[in-house]
Amino acid sequence: MTFDPKTSFTKALHHRQNHIDTGEPISVPIVPASTYKLPNIPEGDYQYGRVSNPTWDATENIISMLENAPVVTFPSGMAAISAVLLSILKPNDKLLIPSDGYYVTRVMAEKFLKPLGVIVQECSTLNIESQDFSQYRMVLLETPSNPKLDLCDLQKIAAKCQAANVLLVVDNTTMTPLGQQPLDLGADIVVASDTKALNGHSDTLFGHVASRNADIIENIREWRKITGAIVSPHDAWLVHRGLETLEIRFERMCQNASFVATQLSNYPVVSSVVYPGLTSHPAHQLAKTQMQCFGSLIGVEFRNAHIAERFINECEFIVAATSFGGIHTSAERRARWGDDVAEGYVRLSLGIEPTKILWSNMQAVLDDLS
Ligand SMILES: Cc1ncc(COP(=O)(O)O)c(C=O)c1O
Repeated sequence: MTFDPKTSFTKALHHRQNHIDTGEPISVPIVPASTYKLPNIPEGDYQYGRVSNPTWDATENIISMLENAPVVTFPSGMAAISAVLLSILKPNDKLLIPSDGYYVTRVMAEKFLKPLGVIVQECSTLNIESQDFSQYRMVLLETPSNPKLDLCDLQKIAAKCQAANVLLVVDNTTMTPLGQQPLDLGADIVVASDTKALNGHSDTLFGHVASRNADIIENIREWRKITGAIVSPHDAWLVHRGLETLEIRFERMCQNASFVATQLSNYPVVSSVVYPGLTSHPAHQLAKTQMQCFGSLIGVEFRNAHIAERFINECEFIVAATSFGGIHTSAERRARWGDDVAEGYVRLSLGIEPTKILWSNMQAVLDDLS
């Protein structure tokens, strides 16, 4: 049977109760521990807090069921991405990263990989597929990319990478494992910021690496153990709790995004709307085959920055904030961070609010701005 993320999610929800004894709590306990009882010859799963922790294990188990692959968790998405880049790449290795993806990955490559002798090249998400990969050691991409929501064909790129013996790493933050499964499409490694929709409650930073290659996962686990880039048991618990509602949250978020995206283009103050679920999106057909849903993010280009700011600040049910994927609808003008987008371009992240109530508030503000 082919892997179905929703079936796996349901199994993950009930995983703990099927493995505990009568009288044990159904909710996962937080185990704050730096060290564990360890007499004589060291043995057992838990010896020292930098190496393992039962609360991490519970959270990793669930993410692992959703990825259908072993998972190593990290204290942020950047810690997960850095673990992959720094533990695998060696001097003179060539790395390809998106010129239009999450900007801190580019800063990381520039500031810390280049001085180590790694050759870093950039390419837009739309041009990755046509690159000659033969010189590379690793290709890292995002699809849909953040913030422009461009797509690239994972299956085609993975086949090209495999033929050229290049590692393909996919940052799957914008879709979560419920919305897109890059490993099934041929990627070697998935990295993600679980700070976003996977946790979804805007209360902690978190990240993970998933891979079906045992050597890669072993190396990443070693990296975490030795560098000490570990998650706190409390944060692992928060993410465990957030994860339990991922399916229902993400469904509402995507439903809200889809509805709002179709409505927005009717307003003269809006120059364009980017959403993979719209037939006007250049990669709509690819989105239909590559993703399980169209995601919770919309790119909205307003006529200018002033109108964009007014929309964000005057909507009662939009929180002006950086980041995305939370239960509250949020938005920001990405040009304020220097992203290569128009001044009026807003990344709108849809939350779990009831669709009609959310939209009627946005509609009133748009009517006022028009
Ligand atoms: C696509 C993408 N990858 C990685 C990250 C980094 O995640 P974190 O902030 O959890 O380190 C972000 C953060 O916005 C992101 O949008």
